[in-house]
Amino acid sequence: MRRLGGVMAVVLSVAVMWALLLRPAGEESSSDLHLEVPEGEKLIALTFDDGPHPQHTAVLLDGLQARGAKATFFLVGCQVELAPELVGRMAAEGHQIGVHTLDHVQVNGLARAEFDRQVEGLRRALYPLVGERELWLRPPYGIMDDNTLRWADGPVVLWSVDPEDWRDGNTQRVVEHIVARVRDGDIVLLHDIYPQSVQAALQVVDCLQNQGWRFVTVEQLLQLKGRAGEAGQVYRCVR
Ligand code: NI
Repeated sequence: MRRLGGVMAVVLSVAVMWALLLRPAGEESSSDLHLEVPEGEKLIALTFDDGPHPQHTAVLLDGLQARGAKATFFLVGCQVELAPELVGRMAAEGHQIGVHTLDHVQVNGLARAEFDRQVEGLRRALYPLVGERELWLRPPYGIMDDNTLRWADGPVVLWSVDPEDWRDGNTQRVVEHIVARVRDGDIVLLHDIYPQSVQAALQVVDCLQNQGWRFVTVEQLLQLKGRAGEAGQVYRCVR
């Protein structure tokens, strides 16, 4: 038995070493970041919920790539099935991916098993597409309770700027709402299932990049502000 225990210890320590070795690899996407923010440069994190959409998200990814802008996508399970290749593309192009539940349900009041199915179940469905990595949570409608924070198993991301882009399909109104209000460290809520929102987002990038703004993921926003995302913490903006 002692011998078996020794073998188990070796197996375990090899597993731990692998875990330690593999851990930085998952974070490599952010290591090409310049970790200093030049004076005068301001940071903004665009976030897109409810996607991916087979057409509109593809247009958005093209536009972000052409502009060198990064964003964060909070995905819904049923949409992922429609465009799994776009999820892989998001990851490959350095965007952050998070979960917005399998079925776009309110997570407050859920029993533990159903919460896990909606959140952890989506994470497990995404791993084959993006590799095992942290997938932060944005609860649908921004509604949550104490259990949400306890069970999230990662940071919870809300927003500080909401142009209500679902309201009227008015690209210009959405652009003006964001540009007029945005402050350094803001997290902006948009939805890449609407073509007007995709156009608005790209216009916002064009407008603000010219004024010295840098478009980063939520995780990069935290890093660049000298912080790390903590499990069970809610982030609306990072000042
Ligand atoms: Ni949503």
